[in-house]
Amino acid sequence: MSSVIISPSILSADFANLERDILSVKDGGAKWLHIDVMDGHFVPNITIGVPVVKSLRAVTDLVLDVHLMIENPEKYVEPFVKAGADLLTVHYEATGKNTQKVIDLIKSYGIMAGLSIKPKTKPEEIEKFISIADLILVMTVEPGFGGQKFMQDCADKLPYIKQRQADGQYLQVDGGINDVTGKYCVKKGANNLVAGNYIFNSDDIKGRIDSLTF
Ligand code: DX5
Ligand code: ZN
Repeated sequence: MSSVIISPSILSADFANLERDILSVKDGGAKWLHIDVMDGHFVPNITIGVPVVKSLRAVTDLVLDVHLMIENPEKYVEPFVKAGADLLTVHYEATGKNTQKVIDLIKSYGIMAGLSIKPKTKPEEIEKFISIADLILVMTVEPGFGGQKFMQDCADKLPYIKQRQADGQYLQVDGGINDVTGKYCVKKGANNLVAGNYIFNSDDIKGRIDSLTF
């Protein structure tokens, strides 16, 4: 049994058939579901918000892994918790000096708190939060869109973070993950893989999930 968690990103699912697509990743063995929230400010795209998370919560028991690519994420922690998120990941580039406060706020609701870094952010900048956050997300593309090319130099940040994490903490990668790039990330210390295009742009969703189960 693999210890790597697969979190399919519904950004690449059919938004008119979300329940159907979620059932297929669950049938394929996924335990988590990655939900990309974008505000058109932190990233140049707008996607999913609180009402969609609430609707998904009503139809699935998968772990709802909510990736907030938004400015002022602290304003939206409570609404996303109430909608049913199990994990809220915020960006260090959006929280800056308030990072500790935002992590504490998320944890105060009894859910998992994640902290993410964009490609240009060095892992040293978040050193003091590595042991505090439940999950660190290393972006391997510039956040904003699915289907982009994996940036290998971003994955080379993984060992620095892994060395500073305890057992039970998650090290997630997101962007351009497939069977080859995913394997590279797992070798470097990742234990949690987000994949959108690779999983949903296939007629064999189970096969794609299996191929990431290292
Ligand atoms: C990009 C998102 C990703 C995206 C990944 O900003 O955070 O979660 O859905 O898509 P793929 O796996 O297609 O690169
Ligand atoms: Zn994401």
